[in-house]
Amino acid sequence: MTGAKISATTIRNMKARGLKIPALTAYDFPMTRLVDEANIPLILVGDSLGMVVLGYPDTTRVTMAEMEHHVRAAARAKPNGLLVADLPYNSYQTVESALANASSLVDAGAEAVKAEGGREIAPQISAIIGSGIPFLGHLGMLPQHVLEEGGYHVKGKSESEHHALVADAQALVEAGAFAMVLELVAPHVAKELTEHLPIPTIGIGSGPHCDGQILVTPDLLGMLPWYSLKHVKPRLNAAEQMRLVVEEWKQSVVNGAK
Ligand code: KIV
Repeated sequence: MTGAKISATTIRNMKARGLKIPALTAYDFPMTRLVDEANIPLILVGDSLGMVVLGYPDTTRVTMAEMEHHVRAAARAKPNGLLVADLPYNSYQTVESALANASSLVDAGAEAVKAEGGREIAPQISAIIGSGIPFLGHLGMLPQHVLEEGGYHVKGKSESEHHALVADAQALVEAGAFAMVLELVAPHVAKELTEHLPIPTIGIGSGPHCDGQILVTPDLLGMLPWYSLKHVKPRLNAAEQMRLVVEEWKQSVVNGAK
């Protein structure tokens, strides 16, 4: 790897330095190592692993034990990029559970944690940061709320959602988050937040104006051909390539090759 080890402060300062922040997810040793070898500064062990690795219908079934297992695997790659882990559903309802679970993810090898929400989880965020663990915010469409919300909808189109996003973003800044993910935020609101906030915004499906962009790596690689997302155009058709290679190899075995 090239360059000095990336910290939460490095990521935070990239905004002031005018540097865009590319971020990707990874869930195991090889994926983390490959993403890191491409010098991606922020690598997220996201609870999206529930869908893209474990086959759950959404992220609400992911447990702390599953997150710890995957964080340990990713951390064995010893990435130069900052390794962030998601606090899963129901793991940060109180200050006590947020602190205990954030610290378990750090014990597993995470260097920062992320949780979904703004003002309603401000006490948990302050406690996590107060204990010395850097915190990445997540606003907009919150996948852990997908069942209550009945789907993945763009946030910030109405005035009330716009105001709520501004207030939640301010709460994250005041609590001390080093950056925040904006997921499916109306692009004009993402642009406004990016222009006014002192910390970086990292968008996913929120338009081009954020300070950085994050994607779920299997979506970028075309590993999941069973659904398509408006905000990702796969750069590789890994699923089709795997099918072809497996088929060719199978035929060679069936035909008696060694
Ligand atoms: O879990 C995840 O992968 C995420 C990204 C989509 C930001 O939260």
